[in-house]
Amino acid sequence: MCGITGYIGYRDAYPIVINGLKRLEYRGYDSAGIMLYDGETMHLSKTKGKVCDLEEITNTNEKRKKGKIGIGHTRWATHGVPNDVNSHPHFSQSGNLAIVHNGIIENYDTLKKELIARGYSFKSDTDTEVLVNLIDEVKKNEGCKLGKAVQLALTQVIGAYAIAVFDKTKPNEIIVARLGSPIAIGVGKDFTEFFIASDASPFIEYTKEVIYLDEHELAIIKLDKGVKVRKINDDSLVDAKIEELQMNLEQIEKGGYDHFMLKEIHEQPKAITDTYRGRILADEGIIKMAGVDNNLEKFLTANRIIIVGCGTSWHAGLVGEYLFEHLARIPVEVEYASEFRYRDPIITPKDVVIAISQSGETADTLAAIKLAKSKGAFVFGVCNVVGSSIARETHAGAYTHAGPEIGVASTKAFTTQITVLSLIALKLGSEKGTYAKANFQNYLRRMELIPSKVEELLKIDNQIKEIAHIYKDAYNCLYLGRGFNFPVALEGALKLKEISYIHAEGYPAAEMKHGPIALIDENMPVFVIAINKGHYEKIVSNIQEIKARSGKIIAIVTQGDVEVKRIADHIIEIPETEEALSPLLTTIPLQLLSYYIAVMLNKNVDQPRNLAKAVTVE
Ligand code: F6R
Repeated sequence: MCGITGYIGYRDAYPIVINGLKRLEYRGYDSAGIMLYDGETMHLSKTKGKVCDLEEITNTNEKRKKGKIGIGHTRWATHGVPNDVNSHPHFSQSGNLAIVHNGIIENYDTLKKELIARGYSFKSDTDTEVLVNLIDEVKKNEGCKLGKAVQLALTQVIGAYAIAVFDKTKPNEIIVARLGSPIAIGVGKDFTEFFIASDASPFIEYTKEVIYLDEHELAIIKLDKGVKVRKINDDSLVDAKIEELQMNLEQIEKGGYDHFMLKEIHEQPKAITDTYRGRILADEGIIKMAGVDNNLEKFLTANRIIIVGCGTSWHAGLVGEYLFEHLARIPVEVEYASEFRYRDPIITPKDVVIAISQSGETADTLAAIKLAKSKGAFVFGVCNVVGSSIARETHAGAYTHAGPEIGVASTKAFTTQITVLSLIALKLGSEKGTYAKANFQNYLRRMELIPSKVEELLKIDNQIKEIAHIYKDAYNCLYLGRGFNFPVALEGALKLKEISYIHAEGYPAAEMKHGPIALIDENMPVFVIAINKGHYEKIVSNIQEIKARSGKIIAIVTQGDVEVKRIADHIIEIPETEEALSPLLTTIPLQLLSYYIAVMLNKNVDQPRNLAKAVTVE
């Protein structure tokens, strides 16, 4: 995790680097730092805390803001607690080099001992300070240029990194490199300026031209000369592609909402529409998805589908299991990427692996993909971030087109992932003939109605606020659902935990009597998804069981429900739809509930403690 930014060109670097850090704070926010080079001196400002705390320091002295070259960092601590000293940038002992780093150097301890034996001493506990000194040592010993020194040093490193390195003795260049953590280079007009960042959001108002470094690549960014990209291991030159950025500034600003999370919840009608736009031809009964169309045989002859992901993306995968089995009759296994990659799983070339990831950078998911590929499986990615590592590592894929998701708690990523999985499952069901043609068209039309139904649901804000107010002080909460809505119960519980820090658990409703029912008393709020499809009668019985033990019931029901209304303490009504599409609706009130509870508890909704948006460490 961590976010890095940098600038070299003709403008003042400070506002570019500092504003860039603000946009990257979703990647980590326990400390922040910046180095500006004013033509003579490298000015370093860094602190524990957020970018706004860093600004307080830089505001104390204009010198700290001077320079046309700068690098910055916002941290999510791995090696060394969050404090001023461990914050980046780090300088080499000689005082010539400055570095910012996103990732982990796993063999840092061995390297550190070797450097100590050669007379180096260290101020911080970080692996990054080891790396910058290693680069300086290589440069000194080999008598080479900075680019070569970085390259040679990185061949000694085990771990993951995206780095930007600056040398004040050669101040017309910045070296960047990547392995396992992303890095984008914005190219200014006529190569007169360059921007560096963990993703392209920090520089979208300056340039639309971007180079995404691939794994094992290093770039020498030189003023007026351009960007030269090399492979770190074999020194071969890479023909770096300049891509056109699709994002715009409006997409990454709050647009009048108090938090990104609320904005992103409200963006779901559009995001879901954008996900299926151009893919559904309801009248003709056709779903077009290039990644599936071009590999149809692989899907149709697959022995099974294995879905891998983490967190919310894993929950979307669980909904996918119900979808694929129900619509396409293909056996599915859903795996935590972190377990799958280390379990020595049985994977064959007849398996199709679907990897789901909003960021496209999650280290465990990426490793699971590599493992599946090495066993000959066909790997299909469902990602949101265009050009991300997972999007590139997979054989084919489908983007969710949700637009940038900045709030750390995933919302629109979840519903758009489910939308993509629905489309794939439905397409396969129709190709295999496991889902009747007539139903197929109906399903598509119902899917097209989902955005307006979500819109309708988003209007119940006030009712949700009232419920949030009543239960905001709970210590524990249970979330129950069955069938397609069991994963929604898990997701509802995760949303509450991560932003309000209230302990919550999701369960399949019928499992309650095998243990969790012991927890039920008058202090236990139980959120139950009880729509009028699937196993309605069974879930009504589950609700009765909770009621009999004085639990408080907040039920999500279909509009017009009578039975649950009689028993529940509160009901939240959702519009009628197909059971398989219902997670797209039932999840909305749960997102709003966790949002309002966190706001009422005064928590940092967009940047909850200990979390980061892109988990690029194992
Ligand atoms: C929860 C959340 C995380 C992510 C998980 C995977 O709100 O955001 O659980 O879902 O870290 O991230 P991606 O989807 O980027 O692979």
